[in-house]
Amino acid sequence: MAATVAVALFSSLLLSAVVNSAEDFSAAFNLRDKSPIGGLCAYLIEPSGFPCSEHATQTKDGYILGLQRVSSPSVVLQQRGPPVLLIHGLFMAGDAWFMNSPNQSLGFILANRGFDVWVGNVRGTHWSHGHVSLSEKDKEFWDWSWQELALYDLGEMIRFIYSVTDSKVFVVGHSQGTIMSLAAFTQPDISGMVASAALLCPISYLEHVTSRFVLRLVHMHLDEVIMTMGIHELNFKSNLGTQVMDMMCDGHLDCDDMLSAITGKNCCFNSSRIDFYLEFEPHPTSSKNLHHLFQMIRKGTFAMYDYGMWKNLKYYSHIKPPIFDLASIPSSLPIWMGYGGNDALADVADVQHTLKELPSKPDLLYLEDYGHIDFLLSVNAKEDVYDSMLAFFSSQLGTFSSY
Ligand SMILES: *[C@@H]1O[C@H](CO)[C@@H](O)[C@H](O)[C@H]1NC(C)=O
Ligand SMILES: *[C@@H]1O[C@H](CO)[C@@H](O)[C@H](O)[C@H]1NC(C)=O
Repeated sequence: MAATVAVALFSSLLLSAVVNSAEDFSAAFNLRDKSPIGGLCAYLIEPSGFPCSEHATQTKDGYILGLQRVSSPSVVLQQRGPPVLLIHGLFMAGDAWFMNSPNQSLGFILANRGFDVWVGNVRGTHWSHGHVSLSEKDKEFWDWSWQELALYDLGEMIRFIYSVTDSKVFVVGHSQGTIMSLAAFTQPDISGMVASAALLCPISYLEHVTSRFVLRLVHMHLDEVIMTMGIHELNFKSNLGTQVMDMMCDGHLDCDDMLSAITGKNCCFNSSRIDFYLEFEPHPTSSKNLHHLFQMIRKGTFAMYDYGMWKNLKYYSHIKPPIFDLASIPSSLPIWMGYGGNDALADVADVQHTLKELPSKPDLLYLEDYGHIDFLLSVNAKEDVYDSMLAFFSSQLGTFSSY
């Protein structure tokens, strides 16, 4: 029901856009929300008493990514522990790891355990810093999908941290962050710099997505519709996007329901904090990224972006886009995975498919009640999820070269 209303609203939004001039519409979509003043350190991390510094690095294709480096108030900076990179999901950014209460937020927990915590922010999010030559108003700025986020953004973040710390990097991903991780780990030049990985709501295949809301949008080809309309950036914090969100959350639809319709039922998420979360989320992404994700749902493949036959021939020298071969992830790379029985995006059947193709046997944590958002925002995330992840990381530290 919620999904029906939301889809109806979304469709009427698109229809009204067709009636208006296309130019007005994309202008409205490009109007950026005034993002919080200062960086993520000043806005969310330092106020909790954690030392934090802002960093930036540039990808091969010219995007300037923001990174934050966080440590425990009680750690002497010269004695930082092993570096860990946190890589967020779709419509999220580095704030995702610090939005829960301090005792339940993974970013703070890892810092308190002595890890040298690095927070990643992919291109297009509020905490990344644009492009060397393109403006966010240019359609070329939004010409990427998770393929570039994996091979360029994640690859560059890992390389940067590896070179600053002179140490292999622990990687933690959530949702799209796990798609990026698994795709990146198939590349030996990237996986060679990774110590081990913990994947929350791991995704490579999206064949069994059960999210009612997402399946509706896939069915109505929303991805293709918006691209055809010349909308390159998906920003729900644009003026128009905000209006739609307000309508959906305050008026006809309970935002909590809406979240369940998208992500699956979350057992342990504190919905009275939703206004606080909406100060940060959703972050923008590209329409092309949505299209790539929908391609995966339609085709059931874990492959590069499908441009169509002729352009595939041009870009890949093949009619079909090359797959990311999970079997080529080194079996020596230790992996831990946490997944939930109520997750409508990282479905259990798809997780099993991923496990079947990986050459190694990851350590697994299965939580029957957990939905997609619980893994970040559960009121018991530390006890339910992160203690197990930390035990896994601790078991790796024994074999960790610099320790
Ligand atoms: C958070 O953890 C600290 C240290 O373990 C403890 O003293 C404090 O009571 C906890 N706060 C909450 C709200 O649980
Ligand atoms: C849920 O959030 C509200 C508002 O921030 C807070 O007062 C309450 O203590 C939270 N409940 C739990 C179980 O953390």
